[in-house]
Amino acid sequence: MYQAPRGTSDIIPEEQAYRLYIEQKAADIARLYGYKRIDTPVFEDTELFLRGVGGATDIVQKEIYTFEDRGGNKLTLRPEGTAPVCRAYLEHGMQNLSQPVKLFYIEANYRYERPQAGRYREFRQFGYEAIGDSDPALDAEVIDMAWQFYVSLGINQLHLIINSIGCPNCRPQYLETLKAYYASQVQTLCNDCKTRMEKNPLRLLDCKNDSCRQLAAAAPRSYEKLCPECAEHFAKLKYFLNLLGLPYEIDHCLVRGLDYYTRTVFEIQPEIEGAQSTIGGGGRYDGLIEELGGKPTPALGFATGIERIAANLKRQNLPVPLIPGPIVFVAYLGETAREAAVKLCGELRKSGIAALQAPGGKSLKAQLRQANSAGVRYTVIIGEDEIKAGTVQLRDMTTSEQNNLPAGQLKELLGKK
Ligand code: HAM
Repeated sequence: MYQAPRGTSDIIPEEQAYRLYIEQKAADIARLYGYKRIDTPVFEDTELFLRGVGGATDIVQKEIYTFEDRGGNKLTLRPEGTAPVCRAYLEHGMQNLSQPVKLFYIEANYRYERPQAGRYREFRQFGYEAIGDSDPALDAEVIDMAWQFYVSLGINQLHLIINSIGCPNCRPQYLETLKAYYASQVQTLCNDCKTRMEKNPLRLLDCKNDSCRQLAAAAPRSYEKLCPECAEHFAKLKYFLNLLGLPYEIDHCLVRGLDYYTRTVFEIQPEIEGAQSTIGGGGRYDGLIEELGGKPTPALGFATGIERIAANLKRQNLPVPLIPGPIVFVAYLGETAREAAVKLCGELRKSGIAALQAPGGKSLKAQLRQANSAGVRYTVIIGEDEIKAGTVQLRDMTTSEQNNLPAGQLKELLGKK
């Protein structure tokens, strides 16, 4: 027997209610904040992610699905949405539109990770990007939108964690301070962190290893080493978050796993502990558009995993609306009635009434059993007598009440129901 590849799963009909509900709420919140939908290809030139996400990141080093197509092009399955959206912003000349340009996406992403609860190789993200504005009030708005999205779903007991990791002017100096702090303690670091010291020292701060965590807790804080412009941006961000009534915590160990971030980084985490507890994260990436060949363009965004949201809805026992099924089942007795049933089903559907056609060769009893398990509200029964009289039997499946009525009245009656 074949199985879905490791780290992927089918979204079977019973699970679709969660996905539809979350994606509908995502589209609703995007509209409320003025974001327009964009869809980008599922694969891109590998170079886009090398430059965009960063060659030293875990995503690019260990997790991308890269392949060469028959034309010899090096392509990569999209591991995240920000770099592709920035590519599209440039490709479609969106820098000529009124700024910021606000775009959202709901899409599958691919990362070759070690699968565990909440961490998959194929997963879906709702993400959004606001490109072309450096105002810290926009940072607060982007964070507020994430927060209100979870509120609209009923997910509570969340923590908003923020940090500022500075800009190309102040970060190099901070990294030197950080490396100096770690230099005398290299022997305490895990093997990954020994490599990070050289390649990506900022990531020393978010290692999950116990002894690395202890070191990180006492490490120099980026938000205390910001240049005056970044310090002002961070102060204003906090001011606007207070204005919006968003409760935040500052954590100097929050650095995020993608290289493009500048200044504001943030994550939203549920109260439960666990390695996969982050439900969404984002930040500012003022250098990315330029890195991809555009003019210097400030921007920021956020993304959240649909599966992790569904897990939180389930954990909190939050109900999701059922996807409505057909309202009526059309049963028949005898071959002539079968033809009438097929015709009636077609007519009902043309009038917008969702109808199920009884399968052939079953007794009326078996047909009614099937109607019951399909969960329809009504069953129409047609037999030879009804055809002669131009009527149908309409059975209410909840009360078992059954009425004979003129066939011509059926559409109008069901339409009203
Ligand atoms: P990220 O933190 O890599 O950021 O992913 C955002 C969210 O996607 C995570 O918080 C998590 O909910 C979900 N996610 C990530 N990896 C997996 C996985 N393997 N399985 C299940 N869910 C996962 C980004 O992707 C950035 N592009 C966010 C952003 C947008 N920054 C600026 N704009």
